[in-house]
Amino acid sequence: MTTATSAASAPRHQPVPFATGRGDTFDIRPFDAPLGAEVIGLDLSGPLSAEDFARIHRAHLDFHVLVFRDQRITPDQQVAFSRRFGPLQIHVLHQFQLPGHPEILVVSNVVENGKPIGLGDAGHFWHSDLSYKEKPSLGSLLHARELPAEGGDTLFANMHLAWETLPASLQRAVDGLQAEHTYLARYAELQQRSPWRPNLTPEQIAQVRPVLQPVVRTHPETGRKAIFVSEHFTTRIAGLPDDESRDLLDQLFAHSTRPEHVYRHRWLENDLVFWDNRSLLHLAAGCPPELRRVMYRTTIEGDAPR
Ligand code: SIN
Repeated sequence: MTTATSAASAPRHQPVPFATGRGDTFDIRPFDAPLGAEVIGLDLSGPLSAEDFARIHRAHLDFHVLVFRDQRITPDQQVAFSRRFGPLQIHVLHQFQLPGHPEILVVSNVVENGKPIGLGDAGHFWHSDLSYKEKPSLGSLLHARELPAEGGDTLFANMHLAWETLPASLQRAVDGLQAEHTYLARYAELQQRSPWRPNLTPEQIAQVRPVLQPVVRTHPETGRKAIFVSEHFTTRIAGLPDDESRDLLDQLFAHSTRPEHVYRHRWLENDLVFWDNRSLLHLAAGCPPELRRVMYRTTIEGDAPR
């Protein structure tokens, strides 16, 4: 597993010039990790030129996680930048929308006047955002608004590498199969141990009916294959006996998140992290409950996986 914290304090990556052209006003520096790059010197509070947008888009496809440093942006500016990549998805837990901004899910462990201000256990298990929808997320953007002094990291696992390093016998066993994903897979389990999981209304349950997704998907923009199952949302492989399905899923989960596929992000103030849900799984490591963590998430709609 690889970690990067800051460009200034003993970085564990070597800055590598990336697609530099005359007139570039910002740097993209890949991490010395199985994924990820940081973007230095780009201010997302204003409009982005077509050329800068193309550079960011390319880097996102190449590195799967982009860390935009020092973004002092408003919720409207986060929404505007996110929308450049596609329509935004509204999370089923509308209780945790930022007031006035339904496109922003507040991810936070803070409880005010006995009421959680956000979803405090988002990312408790490895997952790809909204894989339980017919059109899961293309990518998500998480903006650090308030960080704990300790913990609060986010881990990302590279599902292309996971596929490419999967033993050939296992590749043959799973390629072409479909698996069921459901938002409710571990909802009751989470509900038992946290204050962040309200009882769902019939309307909310209707929004998250189980769907079948390919176990191995092809990235619609790069054509690379990626494992597309997760411990949070995938319940079974369709058409297999329960024990065989469980065994295959357990092997895929264990292989996918091996340390050599993982980058651990240690947040810096005002980081905006943009990840590709078609290429990655992610996990929130959590922080001591008495320390405040407040993040704003936008989620971009993607294609139906193939
Ligand atoms: C998420 O899974 O979207 C939240 C990740 C985090 O809070 O680090």
